[in-house]
Amino acid sequence: MKGSILAMNKNKVVLASFCILASAVIFSACRDKQSTGLEYARNMYDPLAYNPDQPNPNPSFKGQTAQTPPAHTTPVGFDSYEYPNTKEGYEAAGAALVNPFPANEKNLAAGKHYFTVFCAPCHGEKGDGQGHLVKIEKISGIPSYHGDATSSRGGNMKDLTAGKIYHTIMYGLNNMGSHASQLSPEERWKVVMYVQQLQKIQ
Ligand code: HEC
Repeated sequence: MKGSILAMNKNKVVLASFCILASAVIFSACRDKQSTGLEYARNMYDPLAYNPDQPNPNPSFKGQTAQTPPAHTTPVGFDSYEYPNTKEGYEAAGAALVNPFPANEKNLAAGKHYFTVFCAPCHGEKGDGQGHLVKIEKISGIPSYHGDATSSRGGNMKDLTAGKIYHTIMYGLNNMGSHASQLSPEERWKVVMYVQQLQKIQ
């Protein structure tokens, strides 16, 4: 009997010390509003490796952790486009670039798909410049790809070369934004192929 009373007291002592410890931990965070309180595994917050935006004491790193890539190198998977967003760049791309993909049903079907998703809301399913956004008056001044519509950069829309269309997808033009981030180079060329199909509509 005596033994069991002692055991009960022991349990109470353990419980009481646990409560004191727990409240000490909880309230230690309340002292200072800026304090993060008791932190567990602090080195998870401060890793040993330098973050890319941190200064770096290594002398060959010239003070910064993120290094500028060596000249004349491109990251893996980087798609370079050498024509600048100027009138000259547009003309040069228009003269030099040719569609690297063969015009076949499969490529045209893919081009049609991307055109429907990314271009038709403005340019219309048939490329007549009467897309949904034109009908609800959100945008205007979209030239048709066919007929005798003219480009604001000169010439007839139906005569735009593959390179000029590709260049337009890369940079956009006035109210049309660039679509380079939405479409991969391959997808762009397939859209170009489909636009050239729409140019033939009488
Ligand atoms: C937000 C509406 C909008 C979307 C989306 C859009 N365009 Fe345009 N696009 C325009 C407008 C507006 C113009 C006329 C710009 C000007 O001449 O000022 C234009 C012009 C063009 C031209 C003529 C360029 C020239 O040299 O005159 C081409 C080609 C073209 N768009 C292709 C595309 C393709 C391909 C897509 C889809 C990848 C697309 N556009 C998506 C609004 C859009």
